[in-house]
This record gives sequence, structure tokens and C-alpha cells, in this order.
Amino acid sequence: MSAHIETKILPIERRLRLRAHPSMRDLLAQVQLSEKKLIQPIFANESIQTSSPVPFLGETAKQPIEELLVQIDKDMERGVHQFLLFNTPKKSTQLFDSSFAQKTIQKIKGRFGRDLTLWVDTCLCSLTQDGHCCLYQQDSQIDLTLTLSTLSLLALEYAKAGADGISPSDMMDGRVAAIRKKLSEHGYDHIPVMSYSTKSASSFYGPFRVAAESAPTHGDRKAYQIDPRNKTDLIASSLRCIQEGADILLIKPGLLNIDIVSELKRITQHHLGCYQVSGEYASLLALSEQGLTEFGKAMLETWISMHRSGADFIVTYGARHAREWIGKYE
Ligand code: PBG
Ligand code: ZN
Repeated sequence: MSAHIETKILPIERRLRLRAHPSMRDLLAQVQLSEKKLIQPIFANESIQTSSPVPFLGETAKQPIEELLVQIDKDMERGVHQFLLFNTPKKSTQLFDSSFAQKTIQKIKGRFGRDLTLWVDTCLCSLTQDGHCCLYQQDSQIDLTLTLSTLSLLALEYAKAGADGISPSDMMDGRVAAIRKKLSEHGYDHIPVMSYSTKSASSFYGPFRVAAESAPTHGDRKAYQIDPRNKTDLIASSLRCIQEGADILLIKPGLLNIDIVSELKRITQHHLGCYQVSGEYASLLALSEQGLTEFGKAMLETWISMHRSGADFIVTYGARHAREWIGKYE
């Protein structure tokens, strides 16, 4: 009788022994954090004379070009070599004046050359009077043809100025194809496009809109950013970017779309990254300011999740703090 019972007891799986010691945990870790896997967003602003910190985003600031160069220098000393540039020129009635962005790109690349990779966010929202990412027709329908031709012209100007990569964030259909075509026609075939391929309409972009001065003056962005309830569209939008020729996909907000990240990695095997957006980052800072978490450790944990889900890299406001905290992760 007792022998009969024993054969029914399953052996207990001993997973605890694999976690008991730090060196065992390190040995078995499947995610390796590194500042080389991060992209730092930076904000160049034409209207200000000195740096102006962005509320709730830590060391993030809107900066005039000269101070931005100093910031980049400091970031590079901390091991960051990848940057995503947002330009905020003075609002002009002449919509497509890209001279400020070109000047910024030239100065950054002139100073740092190949020591850094400069991605340039390509969108219309910091240029349009109404802060929308597209142009509208009289009947308030999106003017897709004009929007795409404008975006691709901007991309070309950025490439000419020395951008290492173009990063369209507007969410218009066909913009990757339009940009690729324009770049190719002018001999910039070698410039990669990192497309914000899945970008959901989110309440977590608030601090960024202060930084880039790009909040829309009327309405919202739901007519072009993806409804987070629509998983089909979240996936299809990235697949479509691949078809249009995107070299790298960017999914944002990263943590909020973590299921999309893992699914896209599984079904596409395409290179992809996560954007830890401003609201996601600010919420970590806010928690830690209340004494409810240790900022750096919480931040690393979010990066681990994104890497584990399949992100090759992460765009994050915390890139410049990575080295300091990765060293402390036990
Ligand atoms: C604008 C743009 C946004 C972000 C990147 N590019 C804001 C928006 O779409 O409203 C968000 C980044 C962040 O919140 O950190 N095209
Ligand atoms: Zn935009």
C-alpha cells in the first residue's frame, strides 16, 4: 500500500537551488544589460539661450545647440554613443524650413563624427502651427500626399546634413516607402530608416510634449496613432513598415506594448527596439521621489523586461544613467 502511494508522488522540481547564489544567478541570466544597447533622446531648441530642464524627466532638458554639444560630450563619457535628436525650431509660417535641424545635425556630426550615431526624429508636429504630425486638407481630412512629400523632403535634408539614420514618428501610411524612395533618388541609399512602426495613441507622452513643444492645439492624435485596443493594427502596422523598407522597427510605448514586442520578434525576426516613453520614465522617477522604489533598480528592471521580450535595444531618457546603475545590479 505505501509503495503504491510513493509511486504517485511526483518529484518536486528544485528551482530554488538555481537562485541561491549571485554567481549562479549571473551564470543563468539570459539578459545582459549594456549602455551600448541604449539610445539617448536629446532636444535641440532654437528659441532658448540656456538649457531649460523638462519637468519630471530628470536630466532631460531643452537645449540651445552649444549646450547640447556639452551634454553630448558628457553623455559619451558615460558610455552613450547612440542619440535620437528632436529639433524644435522657432515656429515659422514657412512650414518647411529645416535650416535649424540641419545646423544642429551639422554641428553635432562636425564635432563628434563617427564616435556617435545620430538618429533624427522625422515628423511635422514641431513644425506645424497646430502641432499635428500631418497636414490637413480644407475639409480637415489628412492630406496624405502633401504630408508624405514633406516628410521625405525633411528626411533628405537631414541626411544631407549628416544624419546617420532617419526615424519617422508620424504614423502616416506609406511614409517609410516615400522616405526610402527619396533617399535612394539622391544617393542616400546607405542611410537606415528606424521607423516608429507600432506607436499607440497614449497618455504617456505628456512630458515629451513639454520637451518638444509639440502638444496639438486642437483634438488629439487618435486619427493616426494606433488604438491600443486593436492588436491586429498594432501588429500590422509594423509588418507594413517592413514591407515598405524599414531597416529597424521601434515599438512604443515599450512596456505598454510588451506583448506586441514579443509577438513581432517571434513572427518577423526583424531588428526591433522599444521606446521607453517619457511618461513611462517619469513614473519611475515619481515613484522613487516618494521613496517607494529605488530609481535605478526599477529602471533596469523595465529594461530587462523589454530585452527579454525581444527588444534588441531601448530608447530611454535614462541611457546616460545606465552605466552607473548596471554596475550596481545584483
Ligand atoms: C511626435 C513624437 C512623440 C513622441 C516621439 N515623437 C509624441 C507624440 O506622438 O505625441 C513621444 C516620446 C515620449 O513620450 O517620450 N511625433
Ligand atoms: Zn509628430
